[in-house]
Amino acid sequence: MSGPVPATAEETGVPVIDIAGLADPELRPPIVASIGAACERVGFIVITGHGVPGELIDRMYEVNREFFELPLEHKLRSASARGNLYRGYGSVEAFGRESVVEGFENGRFDDAADVAAAGYGPEWSEDFEGNIWPARPSAFRPVWREYYAVMEGLSARLMAAFAEALDLPADWFDDKFDRHTSYLNANFYPAQPEPPEEGRMRRGAHTDIGSLTILYQDGIGGLQVFDRSGRWCDVPPVPGSYVINLGDMLAKWTNDRWVATEHRVVNPPAETAHQPRMSIPYFQHPNFDALIECIPSCTSANNPPRYRSVLAGDWSKYRMSLAV
Ligand code: OGA
Ligand code: NI
Repeated sequence: MSGPVPATAEETGVPVIDIAGLADPELRPPIVASIGAACERVGFIVITGHGVPGELIDRMYEVNREFFELPLEHKLRSASARGNLYRGYGSVEAFGRESVVEGFENGRFDDAADVAAAGYGPEWSEDFEGNIWPARPSAFRPVWREYYAVMEGLSARLMAAFAEALDLPADWFDDKFDRHTSYLNANFYPAQPEPPEEGRMRRGAHTDIGSLTILYQDGIGGLQVFDRSGRWCDVPPVPGSYVINLGDMLAKWTNDRWVATEHRVVNPPAETAHQPRMSIPYFQHPNFDALIECIPSCTSANNPPRYRSVLAGDWSKYRMSLAV
């Protein structure tokens, strides 16, 4: 990892917020207020004091590094037969023109039976493509499962703070996430001994699909956000921190009071181009059948709802059907 890079709200527009105090009733209100202000201004927050053990993050990096270092033909055994980039392995080639990245992604449900067992009807379980797990390394699946469970807990804590920042009861989101459908992903950006051709970068500009994203990045850097003043702005790596950003569903829920910020990963400068970069995002998604409709505290007579209501699962299917 490269050395710590100081990051302040003034320099980057993305504040660094220590959330350890959320557990203390006296410290909680100002932390909630600063979270709310960041969600409104830029839709990105760097958090410290999150409580996720560093050694678990290390093990997660280790199993993913081992997987991505396997020969391509091994990795392709874990690719979706349907070409679904949201399941199992996706090669640089599968990711297509714009982004130079390999990925691995899985969700909560190993198969359609798991979907049904979570209480979903046939409209959600039929045609469902389950998780794909690689045979090697053998620790891959248990470590992903362990990490996923920790992300479930952290995302729930964040959503409770989000609810309060929106003047809602802390448990307002609970029944929209009690059968949540979140995804865990590893992005492996290969070393670039030669820069890619014009127009290609590590990851092209996009917004995230779900409610919130909890991303761990290594020390390489390259993540940028498009801020409200229309500038691309670095999100420098802060060791041990997570980058939190809002997805489309929170922008819809809040009627654009909060912003699902566009972001991208630019190519490395020559000094670090010989090193790959890896990031691990957890994409929190609500229940398939949670209705994403304007939150009452986010609308008024002169600020009518801007979006049509949509089921979270329908929105995800639509966005995942588009080219990445
Ligand atoms: C993503 C993403 C950023 C990164 O996977 O959606 O934006 O730093 N990744 O890899
Ligand atoms: Ni993203």
